[in-house]
Amino acid sequence: VPKAPYETLDIKSHKGTYTVHFVPNVADIFSVWQPGSTFHYIIDKKVLDLYKDRLMLPKAASVLAIEATETNKNLNKMPEYIAALLKSGAKRDHTLIAIGGGIVQDISCFLAATLFRGMRWCFLPTTLLAQTDSCIGSKSSINVGDWKNIVGTFTPPNEIIVAAEFLNTLTPDDLRSGIGEMLKVHMIHDLKSFNAIAGDYEKLMSDSGTRLKYIHRSLGFKKTLIEEDEFDRGVRQILNYGHSFGHAIESATEFAVPHGIAVTIGMDMANYVAFRMGRWSEMNFASAHPVLRANSGKFVQTPVPLEGFMSAIGKDKKNIGAMLTLVLPSGSGKLERVGVAADETFKSYVKDYFTSGVRA
Ligand SMILES: NC(=O)c1ccc[n+]([C@@H]2O[C@H](COP(=O)([O-])OP(=O)(O)OC[C@H]3O[C@@H](n4cnc5c(N)ncnc54)[C@H](O)[C@@H]3O)[C@@H](O)[C@H]2O)c1
Ligand SMILES: [Zn+2]
Repeated sequence: VPKAPYETLDIKSHKGTYTVHFVPNVADIFSVWQPGSTFHYIIDKKVLDLYKDRLMLPKAASVLAIEATETNKNLNKMPEYIAALLKSGAKRDHTLIAIGGGIVQDISCFLAATLFRGMRWCFLPTTLLAQTDSCIGSKSSINVGDWKNIVGTFTPPNEIIVAAEFLNTLTPDDLRSGIGEMLKVHMIHDLKSFNAIAGDYEKLMSDSGTRLKYIHRSLGFKKTLIEEDEFDRGVRQILNYGHSFGHAIESATEFAVPHGIAVTIGMDMANYVAFRMGRWSEMNFASAHPVLRANSGKFVQTPVPLEGFMSAIGKDKKNIGAMLTLVLPSGSGKLERVGVAADETFKSYVKDYFTSGVRA
């Protein structure tokens, strides 16, 4: 077992430093901490079914099982969860233990921020997306009506344990969704890192050791940005690379494309638009394209209605006035935030991307 990838990571936040631990197996979680009677587990229903025996929860444990759907992370579901926790005896000095992907993370983080005006919470991410990206960074994002991720807080967990074993039961699409965020943060770091992870793409899909190495590296790259700008007012916004386009794809396809895969396609589109705008060479676009194409899998065939896409990208939270705020690569590969008018020229680039065969 390689030692380096298992080294813990310490993340500085406004609430103090929290630690990410890496363990191979679900059972090893208990080498990091002992379950206490003051723990309340919030667990993804599917994960609970799959790992019930491996998790070895005490018989009398307080467990709130939640199906990982966007409807279940709506603000209108919170009273139900709060009532369940209170009925299980939750007190302000107790700890919430979240076990699941980004959905369970968002719900638990929001509850930990608001119930009793703040509780301790720990997170055991079970999807690749959560292990490699969303578990650090403090954010909770809750839906209100049809508005996705529109309310939330900055509430870092007190502890994170990444158990590699959880990834064994993910589908290839779930893995690709996480890999999308890994490719993103590597590109943000520099072109050399991106080319390294791109070269290991096949192993990333099939080999858990390689995956762990890049999970560790991705979290390390993200750590630098969130420690400098935890509240997302400056350098952290570069993490939005692929996301304005990606969110518009998710929205225009009624969420038929998983988040990290929409981000993968979004990065390819950002690179393409940068090339058409003369900011980046066609050669650079073409050189990053194959791995992004591979990671998009069957979803390159998902039709994206042009008008729906344009309307959604125009409503992106990060836009300023009438201008779109896009993260685009420049000559050296460095990513920059750029104001771009959502005019006919921009629309023609989007249309060309979807219709001219550049995605093939
Ligand atoms: N707060 C943040 O910083 C942040 C960042 C990114 C994404 N998000 C949110 O996270 C959500 C997406 O999260 P996600 O992609 O991690 O997944 P998810 O929580 O939506 O889960 C995806 C699917 O995988 C299943 N699953 C989870 N773990 C599994 C396992 N080990 N084995 C088998 N199946 C498993 C779930 O039951 C679900 O069906 C979105 O709502 C997004 O808005 C939040
Ligand atoms: Zn994302």
